[in-house]
Amino acid sequence: RYEKIWLAGALLLIVGFIATVSYGAVGAGIAMVDDEGGQVDPASLEEHPKFGEPGTYQTGENEYDVYVVARQFLFEPGTSEPIRVPAHSTVTFHVTSADVIHGYEVVGTNANTMAIPGQVATITVEFGEPTEYGLLCNEYCGSAHHAMEGSLEVV
Ligand code: CUA
Repeated sequence: RYEKIWLAGALLLIVGFIATVSYGAVGAGIAMVDDEGGQVDPASLEEHPKFGEPGTYQTGENEYDVYVVARQFLFEPGTSEPIRVPAHSTVTFHVTSADVIHGYEVVGTNANTMAIPGQVATITVEFGEPTEYGLLCNEYCGSAHHAMEGSLEVV
């Protein structure tokens, strides 16, 4: 008799687990339609209107979008040239990866996210006085992970 109750409980757990997995898959399917804060094709980033030319785009009086592509083992922009944003601005970062999972952290700010191929992470930061921040990859991404870094200048 108790065995039957345990069996029923186990079945319920399994059904609940399957339902959760299905729900997650449906959620991802919906996100695929959306290019902003959603999904992007990592194989054709060059053709994307913004990721094809990553960098800083003005969207309002003191508002900017910064598109960043992470790849083994650099940020574009950020590594070979710093990301530049104006002082006293609101900046929304749109971050994706061209290959494997990377991290994107603007050290000392609230910007700290994963850069996942196929997905666009968005995070908004308020910048103040002119200064410089470091960029770090904080997800292990391969042999030169430890050297994957960059800088951001508030000018
Ligand atoms: Cu890129 Cu670690």
